Amino acid sequence: MSAKIIDGKAVAARICEELKAKVAELTAAGKQPGLAVVIVGDNPASRVYVNNKKKKCAELGIYSEEHALPESVTEAELLDLIDRLNRDPKIHGILVQLPLPGNLNEQLILDRISPAKDVDGFHPVNVGRMLIGLPGFLPCTPAGVMELIKETGMVLAGKECVVVGRSNIVGKPQAILLLREHGTVTICHSRTKDLGAVCRRADILVAAVGKAELITGEMVKPGAVVIDVGINRNAAGKLVGDVHFDSVSQVAGWITPVPGGVGPMTIAMLMRNTVQSAEQSR
Ligand code: GUN
Repeated sequence: MSAKIIDGKAVAARICEELKAKVAELTAAGKQPGLAVVIVGDNPASRVYVNNKKKKCAELGIYSEEHALPESVTEAELLDLIDRLNRDPKIHGILVQLPLPGNLNEQLILDRISPAKDVDGFHPVNVGRMLIGLPGFLPCTPAGVMELIKETGMVLAGKECVVVGRSNIVGKPQAILLLREHGTVTICHSRTKDLGAVCRRADILVAAVGKAELITGEMVKPGAVVIDVGINRNAAGKLVGDVHFDSVSQVAGWITPVPGGVGPMTIAMLMRNTVQSAEQSR
């Protein structure tokens, strides 16, 4: 083990401590931040994530309300709920937990959220603003990853950054945020030829593919910063990332653990976006 651990839990706790003070100020000024969380169906992972988000709101003094809808909910009903939340002055952030059941058009639903309340940063307006470097809500997981990279003291300008995964939620926005910091960015995906060779070029490697322990030690450049976004169960049922921790931690300079790395940062960034939205309201 040579890599230093990037303690996401500790970084998130520090950020949340700062937010708590800001929430108290806003609340005293009659502008308590409020988050509405919408969950459809009974995906057990979604249930855990939603509970964690509500719990964190309570800890920070952020008002939260949950809208748990059955899988049988229609698109029209869901759109109507979003319209009501868009108009509700108590609510500064609206989060629709993904994935939605297959009968619902995810993009149609996300597009209905007011960009001013889109604390997940998934609305095309916020995605576009991020792409061209305008202020807006940044998606929580990629924003959290950027904070973790900052912890290492690594300056990104001119560095080789490799993102494994091209999802709309993590891979694509992650690449944009790294580019904004002047990294030289490569995105890898399932059709990439010789993934190992591309990954070995990386000074900063972000793994966000959802394949248990895909990234192994021989795919990593000595001294690299390795950020593991994955949350998977391996064959033995153990919670593991997209990075094979035991082998990669022998080679990397820095590594995030799973759990306790990126996960807590995603929630911290959601809280930060919600507070930012309340500050910007009216
Ligand atoms: N599902 C997996 N990650 C996320 C996220 O960051 N936000 C929402 N709303 N759903 C998710």
